[in-house]
Amino acid sequence: MDNFVFQNPTKIIFGKAMETRVGEEVSKYSKKILLHYGGGSIKKTGLYDRVISSLKAAGIEFIELPGVKPNPRLSLVREGIKICRENNIDFILAVGGGSVIDSAKAIALGVVYDGDVWDFYTGKASPKAALPIGTILTIPAAGSESSTGSVITNEDGWYKRSAGSTLLYPKFSILNPELAFTLPKYQVACGAADILAHLMERYFTNTQSVELIDRMIESTMKTVIKYVPMVLEDSNNYEAWAQVMWAGTLAHNNLLNTGRVGDWGSHDIEHEISGIYDVAHGAGLAVVFPAWMKYVYKHDPNRFVQFAVRVWNVEQDFFDPEKTILQGIQKLEEFFTSIGLPTRLEGLGITDDRLEEMADKGTDSDQKTLGNFVKLRKNDIYNILKLAQ
Ligand code: NZQ
Ligand code: ZN
Repeated sequence: MDNFVFQNPTKIIFGKAMETRVGEEVSKYSKKILLHYGGGSIKKTGLYDRVISSLKAAGIEFIELPGVKPNPRLSLVREGIKICRENNIDFILAVGGGSVIDSAKAIALGVVYDGDVWDFYTGKASPKAALPIGTILTIPAAGSESSTGSVITNEDGWYKRSAGSTLLYPKFSILNPELAFTLPKYQVACGAADILAHLMERYFTNTQSVELIDRMIESTMKTVIKYVPMVLEDSNNYEAWAQVMWAGTLAHNNLLNTGRVGDWGSHDIEHEISGIYDVAHGAGLAVVFPAWMKYVYKHDPNRFVQFAVRVWNVEQDFFDPEKTILQGIQKLEEFFTSIGLPTRLEGLGITDDRLEEMADKGTDSDQKTLGNFVKLRKNDIYNILKLAQ
């Protein structure tokens, strides 16, 4: 196990009707905030009204910035920065999914930075300060509600890039599983794939002696595999949603990568896909991950056997480990299919051939590698995308 420092400061407020506490929580930080949300689902579900009345009851002034799109755009971030500066806003409340939260994080970085906020996403600058943010989560998926990351798409060239800093941990995140009842089935499935992907990115490591966290990752994966079909069957199943929502946070709050180095190659490859084609992140991952596995499993067959046996209950063939491994990958694909996700690029509606372009963009023309389990060069990424066709 590697040395590590773990400190996740996000206060999690979990359970039924907890969003009514938002005014009280915000008032610990600010009296004037930016209220940031997406394309309108929060209005349809009535969440918006509850948030507004809680903020008003706590005497909090707010300016609204709606319109965050999935794969959140840099242009709206710039607009948010301008609004915050002009109105002396010192706190951002994000109400929505990963896209809204990531957009809020980007605004939080940009308001207190003299240069261009995109600098943080290209690696030109590293964050030294950020406004505090809080969140009300409406979809278990990205884990941004207690992560250090923010992923933004720059429409100029359609680059989807991430920035990371401990400054971006939200001060608080309100998780009410009831808020997920209204999710369309496809979004539920995309969220599930993202949660599993966050777990798998951490699972496939070269670090040795990581049994404790291996077991914790496996049990979180098994929980997702068990409960996601239940919420798809009955969207009002609170107890099942509670399992899925908490799993989504635990999958990405960094506890499960303590003492080990995760991979993240599949995430980086997926960001090239959703950057160009604007597909849902989770759907992209359902396509990339099985292809990545087929390409790299020979690097550490034992770890892939363990994954097949412990997570997917594949019966181990002691004479033919490859058979066990491929059955595990097949089970993963079957799970994605069973919840309504594609596992090939074609299923994402991608039939043109820009594989070379994506491999090139993702590696800065073969100047950098992606992933850690196996370091992938441009040609490897091209081959993985080919396997995903
Ligand atoms: O915009 P609205 O109208 O709210 O609709 C949203 C959106 O269309 C809808 N939705 C959300 N909650 C709902 C709901 N509809 C009905 N009822 C509800 N309760 O769902 C759609 C998708 O929302 P989005 O926020 O895009 O989903 P998700 O949470 O999956 O976020 C995806 C983004 O997060 C990034 C991804 O790359 C992607 O851009 N990620 C962020 C990470 C991080 N910051 O740590 C890590 C992840 O790996 C990921 O890359
Ligand atoms: Zn993800």
